Amino acid sequence: MDQITKKHKVAESVLDLIDNDEILGIGSGSTVNILIEYLPKVKNKISRVVSSSLKSTELLKANGFEVVDLKSVGKLSKYVDGADEINKYLQMIKGGGGALTREKILAHNSNRFICIVDDSKKVSVLGTFPLPIEVIPIAQSAVALEVIKMGGRPVLRENFTTDNGNIILDVHNFMISEPLKLEKKINNIPGVVTNGIFALNHADMLLSASDDGVNLSEPIV
Ligand code: 5RP
Repeated sequence: MDQITKKHKVAESVLDLIDNDEILGIGSGSTVNILIEYLPKVKNKISRVVSSSLKSTELLKANGFEVVDLKSVGKLSKYVDGADEINKYLQMIKGGGGALTREKILAHNSNRFICIVDDSKKVSVLGTFPLPIEVIPIAQSAVALEVIKMGGRPVLRENFTTDNGNIILDVHNFMISEPLKLEKKINNIPGVVTNGIFALNHADMLLSASDDGVNLSEPIV
């Protein structure tokens, strides 16, 4: 099965998990874009939708959904999003699409975070995928220097501005053996908005598509 077919299979499998009166948070990225196209099938079950990016908002509206602010709903009943890498603890690297900050806000404010991936995203140690960090523009060099001191190699994402008006540094060379510790350490650097390690806000459930079909798993404790 090719990667696109796997993305379709995993996105479609989310529909079975949608309950009545769902207040649904929607992530960003190509897997979520496919999910948004399937969502009208369960529109009658969804009471409100909150989006993590301008791109997802645009697609949701094009598929017939009204999108509301997080502050108008308080807590999401479910948040569904993809990942760039995910380990057995369901800790992730996210932000390949640059929407990491809003994604983390929605993940934190949901009762259940469902991550949807094709099996190429499953890893034993996070860090092969360069770690995205959203940075306030004036702090670019200062943050880059701190990251170099930690052993990383930051690369400015060219011609890219986040939905919040900031830049992204993609950090190569991190083998992330202690995701929680590194997530907190990087977030403590002045000028960092957030980084793409989702360990504090790991997923509660993983749906991953392989040649054998869609597999559901929960974090190893
Ligand atoms: C965007 C993200 C995405 O969830 C991540 O990049 C996965 O995307 P895709 O489904 O296209 O592989 O974090 O900021």
